[in-house]
Amino acid sequence: MKVRRIAILTSGGDAPGMNAAIRAAVRVAIAEGFEVFGVLRGYRGLIEGTWRKLELRDVSGVIERGGTMLMTAREPRFRDPDWRKVAYDKLTQGGIDGLIVIGGNGSFKGAYDFFTDFQFPVVCIPATIDNDISGTDYAIGFDTAVNNAISAIDKIRDTASAFERVFVVEVMGRRSGFIALHVGIATGAEVVLIPEIDYPIEKVANDVIEAKRKGKRHVLIIVAEGVASGSSVGDILLKRLEPHGYTDIRVTVLGYIQRGGNPTAFDRLMASRMGAQAVHALARGEAGVMAAFVGQEVVTRKLETAVSGTKKIEPALYELARKLAM
Ligand code: F6P
Repeated sequence: MKVRRIAILTSGGDAPGMNAAIRAAVRVAIAEGFEVFGVLRGYRGLIEGTWRKLELRDVSGVIERGGTMLMTAREPRFRDPDWRKVAYDKLTQGGIDGLIVIGGNGSFKGAYDFFTDFQFPVVCIPATIDNDISGTDYAIGFDTAVNNAISAIDKIRDTASAFERVFVVEVMGRRSGFIALHVGIATGAEVVLIPEIDYPIEKVANDVIEAKRKGKRHVLIIVAEGVASGSSVGDILLKRLEPHGYTDIRVTVLGYIQRGGNPTAFDRLMASRMGAQAVHALARGEAGVMAAFVGQEVVTRKLETAVSGTKKIEPALYELARKLAM
């Protein structure tokens, strides 16, 4: 049966570029003769049947905006097959026969379960600032988040250099170090701490002492939140450094500043390409797939690839971060 009426939702952590993806999906879908419905608040909206029809002009003026015009939620009920059945009944009663889910790992798991339960035509678009979805080289929002963090850290560095201080900057990434690693390289950080690689605090203390010995005016330590909080890293490190004459370490938590604001050109482009690919996939009769960026192309990949593992950081990039901190 051909899909004619598509619902779109955004779920989990918002990511800059989600609006651009919604816009692209809506416009391409309408151009291809589909009707489109925007579901509010992610899977909660599916369970509660809260959606409205989207027309071409409903997605005007959103490509440059962060957040998500459809709003988002983390909906634990969707992990329960009984609630997924409620959502399925609501969708089919509403005559909706295709679903586009824009989100990260948790949202993909929900989409995969929904597809497996009912063979409902679901296509996902990867969007998470963590960029940790397996099977795609890129997830919408990452570039903006990295750039947001870089511009904040460039400012912090001015003070770090002026006072010859040690700074610990905590960035997002609960389970993954992509943001920390890319930000660390791009800001010239001396140390990058990520959940994927164990790097003991004694070595960090040693790196600080070495950096000073080599004549560095400041020491910048980037820590992904998944390793430890910036303040606990700062406290433990200071204890180790006090015998060497250090009296303070400053800590900054970048937090949600990273996730908000206007998407970069790269995120707008990726979102537009992925939004279009998601609709084309449904038009071709594909289901249980995601739009994926692979080797400079936006293709489709089975959702299984995404839910069966987490994306690994590139060890060579980690090595590069260490080398460049000399
Ligand atoms: O998944 C994206 C992300 O920003 C993580 O980096 C972070 O740990 C988490 O979301 C925060 O989630 P919440 O918005 O629910 O606090």
